Amino acid sequence: MRISELAAEFGVSSAFIIAELKKLKIVNKTASSSITPSSISAIKKALAALPPKELEEEKKKAAKLAKKRAAAPAKVAGKAPQAAPETKVTKAAPVTVVPPAPDTRRMAEEAEAKKAEAEAKRREQQKLTDETTARKKKEVEEARKKAEESKKLEKELAAKKRIEIAENRELEKMIQEEERAKKEAESKTVIIEEAMVVKEFAEKLRVPVSEVIKRLFLKGVAVTLNQIIGVDLAMDLAKEMGFTIKIKELVAASTDLAERADTSSLPIRPPVVTIMGHVDHGKTSLLDAIRKTDVAGREAGGITQHIGAYSIATAGGNVTFIDTPGHEAFTALRARGAKVTDLVVLVVAADDGVKPQTVEAINHAKAANVPILVAVNKIDKPGAVPEKVKQELMKYNLVVEEWGGQTVFCNVSAKTGVGLDHLLEMIQLQSEVLDLRAEPNLPAVATIIESRLEKNRGPVITAIINRGTLRIGDPFVVGMVSGKVRALVNDKGIQVKEAGPSMPVEILGATDSCAPGEIFTVVESERKARQISQSRIDATKDKKSAVKQHVRLENVVESLGEGDMMDLKLVIKGDTQGSVEAVSELLSKLSFNTVKLQVIHSGVGAITETDVMLADASDAIVIGFNVRPTEKSKQLALREKIDIRLYNIIYEVADSITAAVKGMLKPIIVEKTIGRAEVRTTFRISKIGTIAGCMVVDGVIRRNAQCRLLRDNVVVASGIVSSLKRFKDDAREVLSGYECGIGIENYNDVKVGDVIELFVKEEVAQQAVG
Ligand code: GTP
Ligand code: MG
Repeated sequence: MRISELAAEFGVSSAFIIAELKKLKIVNKTASSSITPSSISAIKKALAALPPKELEEEKKKAAKLAKKRAAAPAKVAGKAPQAAPETKVTKAAPVTVVPPAPDTRRMAEEAEAKKAEAEAKRREQQKLTDETTARKKKEVEEARKKAEESKKLEKELAAKKRIEIAENRELEKMIQEEERAKKEAESKTVIIEEAMVVKEFAEKLRVPVSEVIKRLFLKGVAVTLNQIIGVDLAMDLAKEMGFTIKIKELVAASTDLAERADTSSLPIRPPVVTIMGHVDHGKTSLLDAIRKTDVAGREAGGITQHIGAYSIATAGGNVTFIDTPGHEAFTALRARGAKVTDLVVLVVAADDGVKPQTVEAINHAKAANVPILVAVNKIDKPGAVPEKVKQELMKYNLVVEEWGGQTVFCNVSAKTGVGLDHLLEMIQLQSEVLDLRAEPNLPAVATIIESRLEKNRGPVITAIINRGTLRIGDPFVVGMVSGKVRALVNDKGIQVKEAGPSMPVEILGATDSCAPGEIFTVVESERKARQISQSRIDATKDKKSAVKQHVRLENVVESLGEGDMMDLKLVIKGDTQGSVEAVSELLSKLSFNTVKLQVIHSGVGAITETDVMLADASDAIVIGFNVRPTEKSKQLALREKIDIRLYNIIYEVADSITAAVKGMLKPIIVEKTIGRAEVRTTFRISKIGTIAGCMVVDGVIRRNAQCRLLRDNVVVASGIVSSLKRFKDDAREVLSGYECGIGIENYNDVKVGDVIELFVKEEVAQQAVG
């Protein structure tokens, strides 16, 4: 269909259709152009959407135009189908060339009509353009708004993100800070071993060795790199340097197996059983009998060795018996922290019943929290009443199972061997219940059962391995004793290469014997073993000397006996190196009879807290030459009562120290004889006692004065002149050349010829000799 035809059908102009098509972006169409069905329907829609008034006008216009065309068909016949003039009407309208009509009026009308049409189209176009512009504007505005909004949103998002990042950073910072603090705290918490040489200690603290040596030196301890630093000293020093110290105790860390959270994965170990009971109830006999049941023992050809503990192979596995140490020994072992027994077999003779030591044994075992298994022995004896034992033991909460208790009772006879297998079975059962386990793959820790010195073998230690495996060549330490395992001998007297958990074994190679109950620990090297033992020795020494040192400094003045020397320690601080040296030199020239000056520290600068602390620790006096203490050190000195002396004239230092030394010198107490009287006769006066009739031969005799009674120049008594009489009158004093009666307090055995010597004690200040 052509546009013109469609226009005719709708009763509108072709121009209108073309204009509508243009709106639909279908351009370059003329009235003769064909039109697609979709365009037609679009046009239909456009027409339908047109306000009816406008449509009406358009239709009218089209009708008018048609009329005009009909009136002059020939004029534009050639060109009419081409709608070019129509399409270009907006711009071309004014210049559209219309062939001049012969009829000017008609032509004018036509021109007028065309003009009007062009004008209408132009307006239409204009309207369209305006609408498009407005729409575009709106669109642009909307886009702008949208862009602005999205920008705003973006900005907001960015801000949010920034805050988030900042927060994250802050959080991260906080976490880092926390971690740093934690790390610092951790790095400041140092675990040190019991015995460390100075070098190792410095390495642990990650401080230069020189620093450690210097600080120790200032503490008055001169050390070298490889010298052991005692635990107390190490703690002190570390604290001073801001570290927290934890001591890894070799023994504590390794013995208490109960501390291990989960032992269930470890291999089972044999139970360690102690036999206890009253005297003569058959403990030794029972153990002997049990040993005879030992399959391995029999195979090895009997048991000869006595090592205090036995490993017995039973049908249910090995059992270690400690050879009847008696409950005192048992408790002694325990007192040393050794918990070596897993199970106590209480032996009670069926013919004798519960006796005092039975009760003691029960109490000791209970105190140690060790389960008790009762062996009622000697059931072969005619007077044996095992039931009676069961009854008696109920009082001690050992109730047999058949009576509702939990205690296992075994009737045995060490003599006949009856019930022994059952006893061993019960021991195995109990041990299963106890679920005894130990790690064999560790350096061994053992408990000393006994130790003795043998002529040919040296110190022989019997121990039961608590955990780990002990091997020949292992370096070890036991208390203050160290060593290296030279040989291991088992309870059958056979040399073995190693001993595992619960095994009793004799150990050769210790430098000395040690005490039962002490813990034997394998360490990494012989050197370490020596170090630890040395440090333990030092520690005990240190403890003694430390106490002494502490007391000594405090008590020296009081306890300064005759002929004793005392050190006066000084800390010297000066304004220049020159003045410090001058003061030190001057003081070094001073010397006193009983006081020795000792400069323990000197330096340039104000008197600091460290100086005061040093003086405090060493009981020293601080001397400041042209310097003053800092406020803090002043406070500290006040608190710790440290004497700080300040000078600015060098000789004053010497004078003042001399005076101080004199002042602090312990005055010498000298006895001065003030009078002597010879005993010429004696009287006995009732209620008073013996009175010596004397002649004062020298000085003066005073009442209440101290006196000595000399017989052949030997002091036989000393006391106080309690009564002094001149004839019958009391006298306060009697001078030389006069007779008097002298009574000595609480002394009556005065003899003619004795000499009564009176004396007073005087304090004499010592003189400085320099
Ligand atoms: P102490 O070590 O002194 O505390 O004694 P103990 O408890 O070790 O007793 P020991 O094994 O020395 O036995 C004491 C006495 O009881 C010995 O004469 C044994 O022969 C005897 N005896 C031990 N057990 C039995 C037994 O089951 N039956 C009989 N008839 N006698 C026994
Ligand atoms: Mg015995």
